[in-house]
Amino acid sequence: MSDGGYGTIVMEKIIINGAKPLRGTIEVSGAKNAALPILLAALMVDDKCVIENVPCISDVTLSLEILSSMGCRIRMLTKNTVEIDSRFATGGVSPYDLVRRMRGSYYLIGAELGRWGRAYVGLPGGCDIGIRPIDQHIKGFRALGAEISVEGGYVKASADELSGASIYFDNVTVGGTINVMIAATRAKGTTVIENAAREPHIVDLANFLNSCGAKITGAGTDVIKIKGVDKLYGSTYAIIPDMIEAGTYMCAAAATRGRLRVNNVIPKHLESISAKLEEMGVEIIENDDSVEVCGNGELRRVNIKTLPYPGFPTDMNPQIGVLLCLAKGVSCLTESIYDNRFKYVEELKRMGASITVDGSTAIIEGGGMLSAAPVKALDLRAGAAMIIAGLAAKGRTEIEDIHFIERGYDDIVGKLRSVGADIKKVIIPSAVSFEKAN
Ligand code: EPU
Repeated sequence: MSDGGYGTIVMEKIIINGAKPLRGTIEVSGAKNAALPILLAALMVDDKCVIENVPCISDVTLSLEILSSMGCRIRMLTKNTVEIDSRFATGGVSPYDLVRRMRGSYYLIGAELGRWGRAYVGLPGGCDIGIRPIDQHIKGFRALGAEISVEGGYVKASADELSGASIYFDNVTVGGTINVMIAATRAKGTTVIENAAREPHIVDLANFLNSCGAKITGAGTDVIKIKGVDKLYGSTYAIIPDMIEAGTYMCAAAATRGRLRVNNVIPKHLESISAKLEEMGVEIIENDDSVEVCGNGELRRVNIKTLPYPGFPTDMNPQIGVLLCLAKGVSCLTESIYDNRFKYVEELKRMGASITVDGSTAIIEGGGMLSAAPVKALDLRAGAAMIIAGLAAKGRTEIEDIHFIERGYDDIVGKLRSVGADIKKVIIPSAVSFEKAN
């Protein structure tokens, strides 16, 4: 916003008047964590790809900006369909300022290595949910024959030729599995990844790459085989629905004692979430591509531990945490993936929650009502949790730092309004103005 030679800082907030049951049908968008690797892997295809069911979120916009700055031609064919023509891309260097704003940008290392045999990519950013090393990615690339160093905030990788190899990950890593799978697609010979992550977005990326001519089998199990190919071809591919977005709306329905049909989902992907909600007394009806959630009854306490897929997802920890505050009795929520996932607890306490964090477990004394308060979205999923808490609480909740939420939720405000939530996004010019430098 400009004011002559002065600027004004604007602040965006979400404002919710809560305690209104959600009712109706809500549509789920394409999966963020599938979209990011698929869009960035299109860089390696060296042809035109059309990707459908792309969510309108800021991490996608950033990914497309990165691809565009590397010479890809990007055309939005519809709101959710993008054409990426990577034939004229120039490889080897990615724009640092853009890359460091997003975790998923590390997939550029795999894509650039696969296509050009060299990569120079800024260390990734992303939500602060704990220590997030990329040592397993690096171990995988080295096994494929790449030389890797980390210098001045960049990962520098090069290989005369990538060769297939056996890689055993020391821990289950979604990003590591995806990154090595991308690079190995263009390696000479066969790569076997053991102790691979099994998340649905890994299967989705494998399906996309296979639709471009790759030869990947076993995605969705803990052993993935990739027979390297010389060339990939453009294809048209639709991204799977976002299981975490779906799970977030399921929790919102239960938290407001509402009744929602959550459309465009793959119920199998939601099993661990549905099972816990049912254990808490929420009624779930599974249809072919939707789930109905009815949260009329009293919520019961449960214990939950987050685990890699098909276990209960860490990306649902904060949202289910809110629900446990509303359940009768004491619940234990244990986080086994990240060491800083409980930041949202302090914000929930402002709303009256009674939670003690002991190491990796939150002990949640439920049963009380949450009360509206000004809170912050401290990261993407913590922000989603604040929205659920605001929808459940009586009174006016104001949420700041909503840019975190916009990284991963496609029009969350509009979608929740369409099912009866009193929620809006407001832009507030701050009292602070500053003189612009020339
Ligand atoms: N890890 C290592 N070394 C590595 C890689 C990971 O020690 O080289 C550790 C991590 O520190 C963590 C665990 O392994 O403790 C799992 O990390 P993983 O690699 O699976 O996570 P990620 O690839 O960094 C993706 C999603 C996250 C999601 C996790 C787990 C993207 C861009 N990010 O992160 O999504 O939480 O998988 O499912 O796909 C979110 O959407 O809110 C989000 C944070």
